[in-house]
Amino acid sequence: MKILVTGAAGFIGAHVAHRLLSSGRSVIGIDALNDYYDPQLKRDRLAWLHAVGGDFTFHHLDFADDEALESALDGQDIRAIVHLGAQAGVRYSIDHPRAYMRANLAGHLNILELARARQVEHLVYASSSSVYGARPKQPSAVDDRVDHPISLYAATKKADELMSETYAHLYRIPQTGLRFFTVYGPWGRPDMAIWKFTAAILSGRPIELYNHGDMRRDFTYIDDVAQSVIDILARPPSDDGRGKPGGSIAPHAIYNIGNNRPEQLATMVSLIEQACGCTAEKILLPMQPGDVPATFADIDATARDFGYAPTTPIAEGIPAFVQWYRDYKGL
Ligand SMILES: NC(=O)c1ccc[n+]([C@@H]2O[C@H](COP(=O)([O-])OP(=O)(O)OC[C@H]3O[C@@H](n4cnc5c(N)ncnc54)[C@H](O)[C@@H]3O)[C@@H](O)[C@H]2O)c1
Repeated sequence: MKILVTGAAGFIGAHVAHRLLSSGRSVIGIDALNDYYDPQLKRDRLAWLHAVGGDFTFHHLDFADDEALESALDGQDIRAIVHLGAQAGVRYSIDHPRAYMRANLAGHLNILELARARQVEHLVYASSSSVYGARPKQPSAVDDRVDHPISLYAATKKADELMSETYAHLYRIPQTGLRFFTVYGPWGRPDMAIWKFTAAILSGRPIELYNHGDMRRDFTYIDDVAQSVIDILARPPSDDGRGKPGGSIAPHAIYNIGNNRPEQLATMVSLIEQACGCTAEKILLPMQPGDVPATFADIDATARDFGYAPTTPIAEGIPAFVQWYRDYKGL
């Protein structure tokens, strides 16, 4: 039985695939290795996966291309799918809307069609905390209404949840959507604040703090996230007609994967400064369009159903990231 991991060369996908391979599972990875950020980092993550030495097959392809997807996977026995490939990033969606339409809408549909054709046991897919929009209510809970996205990225993630609901209803494909809240850690993404701040501080460049630094985020360490994806993959929602987190009565549940412990941006910056051993020059800027001042997760449903309890505080996770960054860059 093989597990298909989409976005396997991406940040979260590589960690999930690494854990699966390390525990002896067979993994097929797919990724388009797009240039949203440096594709060399994606190739290096793939080398990290191949180094595990397990049963890992990789296909370099665009899953928005249904024919390429089907022909690459023809004859493969796929029992479960972890769909983590997507066009990520809130700000990029302002200038590149079509990238989101292709990867997140056409791409998600193609993965649903694959799940239907193969009658998979479980499709776990990535949604995002950004579906909560600019809501004053915190923490954000999976049963809250999420009808007011403030970026096209968020709109496509909400659309993914809706498409998944339809497929769970029509074809009874067990699915779980995960709304991730700012994931960080080794092999992270260069477009995210922790990476950008670390890179700037280590090279003596100033850092930019949006909303004048008054931002709060649930920072979730990658090891906590990757383990939760694997735990959740093992337990598909049952088709019992009962209401699931997120409100579905089909075999489709939605969970928050966050920390329920929002941290001030200033705390994060000072931990990076300590780990780098130098102080940052700070430029204070206004809020960016499409961004929100605070997001943190109500994780009660995830804790109740999976015993989910993130164990890595930022005081541990940030030094671990900075150490990895220095090793990776040879600094
Ligand atoms: N990292 C976070 O904090 C965070 C927060 C919320 C949601 N998410 C979601 O989690 C998922 C994983 O995020 P990540 O941080 O690993 O992002 P990432 O950008 O590192 O990984 C996504 C991968 O998908 C690949 N990809 C994009 N379009 C593709 C296509 N059409 N065909 C094949 N591959 C394609 C990219 O090349 C990339 O390697 C995404 O769905 C993202 O939207 C992440």
